[in-house]
Amino acid sequence: MARTKLVAGNWKMHGETAGNQALLDALKAGAATAKAAMAVCVPFPYLGQARAALAGTSIAWGSQDVSRHAQGAYTGEVCAAMLKDFECRYAIVGHSERRSYHGETDEVVAAKADAAIKSGLVPIICVGETLAEREGNITAAVITRQLDAVIASIGAAGLAKSVVAYEPVWAIGTGKTASPEQAQEVHASIRARVAKEDANVAAGLQILYGGSMKPNNAKELMAQPDIDGGLIGGAALVAADFLAICAAA
Ligand code: PGA
Repeated sequence: MARTKLVAGNWKMHGETAGNQALLDALKAGAATAKAAMAVCVPFPYLGQARAALAGTSIAWGSQDVSRHAQGAYTGEVCAAMLKDFECRYAIVGHSERRSYHGETDEVVAAKADAAIKSGLVPIICVGETLAEREGNITAAVITRQLDAVIASIGAAGLAKSVVAYEPVWAIGTGKTASPEQAQEVHASIRARVAKEDANVAAGLQILYGGSMKPNNAKELMAQPDIDGGLIGGAALVAADFLAICAAA
């Protein structure tokens, strides 16, 4: 099955109104050169700005997190329906920074994916191992454990409405990228795990790579058979770099 490529920017906790506008305008101006579908996942306060800038363009927008709760007394949380109200297409869930700095367990991440899907958002579900886990030769077990929790929550039917991102924690923001072979091996294993549930869903699942993807390594990574695009942190803040990655897809 031919899968379209997706390149999604994760701005993390960066931005202010004027700089965002310049970046969004530059992305809009350059979108015609993109070979991939494009998306930007911005901080919550800037979703309105992203919507105003990007509505009617080919670039989608989304959030970097979502509450697992539908509504109610959860001070500080943002629910999926609110994100939908801002016409988000995507919500990143389970980013390693959420897992490690905010104590999100596999079960919480799975519940967030479920909440996103129930509101019609597409969760970008992140999985990935730490350096210690890779060096301890438990990468496959860690990824399987993370995926199994998601599968228990949303099943193959939910995965059919999701995107998965493989982000080795040791490659995020470090300048160290997984080699195309290392990434491909994990991507193939993710697809194989999903195929045990449903072969068609597995064949159609977009699996993004994230972790120091840059213009100089994007082409090689995205040429791998199971790498369907990128989740881009640092390089998403520089329009020329992000557009170059989108053009390399
Ligand atoms: P990076 O971040 O591209 O800066 O490594 C990727 C991510 O955390 O999504």
